[in-house]
Amino acid sequence: MTRQIEERLEATPLIALVQAADEESAVRTSRALLAGGISVIEVLLRTEAALDCLGAVAREVPDAIVGAGTVLSAAQAEAALGAGAGFIVSPGLDESVIEVARCAGTPAFPGVCTATELQRAHNLGLETVKFFPALVAGGIPAIKALSSVFRAMRFIPTGGIAPANLADFLAIPAVLACGGSWLTPASLVENGDFSGIRELAKQAVAATRQVARSREV
Ligand code: 3PG
Repeated sequence: MTRQIEERLEATPLIALVQAADEESAVRTSRALLAGGISVIEVLLRTEAALDCLGAVAREVPDAIVGAGTVLSAAQAEAALGAGAGFIVSPGLDESVIEVARCAGTPAFPGVCTATELQRAHNLGLETVKFFPALVAGGIPAIKALSSVFRAMRFIPTGGIAPANLADFLAIPAVLACGGSWLTPASLVENGDFSGIRELAKQAVAATRQVARSREV
């Protein structure tokens, strides 16, 4: 992982997922997240417009670190890098995707949820993985159990993270950051309620500060 992403996530341990129908909506959503204090943004490659959205956010929101999510193949990873992705996230672990990212010097965060997948990630030299789908794959007890074995691995739980459980996930020392779509609900994105998105981001950032304080005391 590049030091820059690591520093951002250590300061504000949140990755916001962006899924928008068009470039303008993706850019305005990303600006709202940034205004709310979240600067690591993952544009999901799930729609026709996704690569254009990724490129637009990378160009027009330069203060954010913008990556690509739901990257399923090496070809998609190459396209995402071409569009300006600063990191690559996948729901599962695929060596060809990791290899494309590695050749470009770009961090890859593959999704894992079993000890076997984590061991594979470890042996591929990875130090940070997405833990997905976090809630149904065992949630907090699963991360604690896995991190007691894979002691240097850092986790980005994603899938089912919400305001009600965010602080509990972030309180686990092995958790680098949490990712999720609760920060960008489709209802707000589609209605152009960007101030609502900014407020959700602010609330999440405030919650991370509480966790940071309780870890210090
Ligand atoms: C992902 O792509 O990581 C998941 O869709 C996130 O899950 P969530 O929608 O429950 O946050």
